Amino acid sequence: MANTILVGAQWGDEGKGKIIDVLTEGADIVVRTQGGNNAGHTVFIGSQKFVLHLVPSGILRQGKLCIIGNGVVVDPVSLVEEIDGLQKLGIKVDGNLLISETAHVVFPYHRELDEQREILKGKNKIGTTKRGIGPAYGEKAARTGLRVIDLINPPRFELLLRQKVKENNDILKAFGAAPLSFRKVHETYRAAGDRLRPFVTNTVIKLHEATRRKANILFEGAQGTFLDIDHGTYPFVTSSNTTAGGACTGSGVPPNRMDRVVGVMKAYTTRVGEGPLPTENAEIADLLHKMGREFGATTGRARRCGWFDAVATRHAAMVNGIDELAVTNLDGLDSLDSIKVCVAYRCGSTRLEYVPNDIEVFSKCVPIYKEFPGWKTPTNRVTNWARLAPKARSYLKAIADLTGARLSIASVGPARDQTIFV
Ligand code: GDP
Ligand code: IMO
Ligand code: MG
Repeated sequence: MANTILVGAQWGDEGKGKIIDVLTEGADIVVRTQGGNNAGHTVFIGSQKFVLHLVPSGILRQGKLCIIGNGVVVDPVSLVEEIDGLQKLGIKVDGNLLISETAHVVFPYHRELDEQREILKGKNKIGTTKRGIGPAYGEKAARTGLRVIDLINPPRFELLLRQKVKENNDILKAFGAAPLSFRKVHETYRAAGDRLRPFVTNTVIKLHEATRRKANILFEGAQGTFLDIDHGTYPFVTSSNTTAGGACTGSGVPPNRMDRVVGVMKAYTTRVGEGPLPTENAEIADLLHKMGREFGATTGRARRCGWFDAVATRHAAMVNGIDELAVTNLDGLDSLDSIKVCVAYRCGSTRLEYVPNDIEVFSKCVPIYKEFPGWKTPTNRVTNWARLAPKARSYLKAIADLTGARLSIASVGPARDQTIFV
């Protein structure tokens, strides 16, 4: 399979979990390299639904090594819960999961600060998942964070945590929020550290050994291109590099060991949380929500929905170097007479062919649409490209062409076999 970076080409929730699961068949190792348990990756195996938050989706295929890389922020209590949940469902985790010793740890004060900052922002809030992601990465950048290597060293951890709780309680007090009890945090985190210790290792060395053995590594992106801290719709973004470069920094595997980049995108657009979404459309949101679709896998929030935005996906192809595209949720459009695709933006009297950096300008962009005829037939049982309705094929080819990458997978349902290799 070669070393593959998989990224979300839109605003997250593109169906990465499903495509990762499909591609894992040809991989030896699956690595998460950024984000934390803000992610929610859904995988169906038969009728059994799994939602992965921190553990790479590759864990669901037997005998695949899964790695939580150095670029991830780990909430150890939530990770222990996730491991327990997987084991209850009969998934083997011991021996199949490694955690980087240099990944940063998310603490309750990060979650509390996340919440308090959102409250303070009022109507300008980001709409975060409240998992403490921003404050945890903030501490990493400020060089004041604690890492997994500290968590699993009890005397050092006690000392460092005592200082951190004191320091953060002072900040929480300034927000008018209740202080945290060092004893409680210490107790739960010590227990989680003890539980996770057997999984913790120098994952950079493990990955380099694997590349020397010519193992196939799949880098599982979380979030999406427009939530990237550098390339997204700042400040309405997450706090990590969700674009392809993040796979290198977040794993320690260098760029010249990467062979291809797969971009995952929906056949339409969704976004959860605040920030601009030029093609947002109430009608398509209504249609998808009535089908019971597009509710967040992590927070359960209804996702905002809109038409496919080719200006945005073209930008994503550019900053990620996307070679191949996997388009998911084609079946969501099955009932429509006509389907719109945004091919450019109009901002005042100017036509824009790219995503503007100024958030105020972007918020005012009005999509310029091209219309495609709907195929008006169910696609969810189709497994072969030649059998797909010609109008659906034309639509897929058009959005791939507009994005500027080769279409390699079309997904027509959440299950493994609802996948068309093009
Ligand atoms: P991720 O965060 O990118 O992994 O995506 P999520 O799991 O948060 O959201 C994608 C949703 O779409 C999940 O409910 C998937 O089960 C579902 N899904 C993925 N591909 C398809 C598809 O082709 N058709 C349908 N109907 N659902 C899909
Ligand atoms: P997956 O991996 C969709 C969004 C939040 C919010 C912004 C910042 O499942 O695609 P954060 O909690 O990260 O500080 O929130 O980013 N967000 C996601 N949206 N999918 C995700 O992950 C997301 N992770 C974060 O809704 O707008
Ligand atoms: Mg998701």
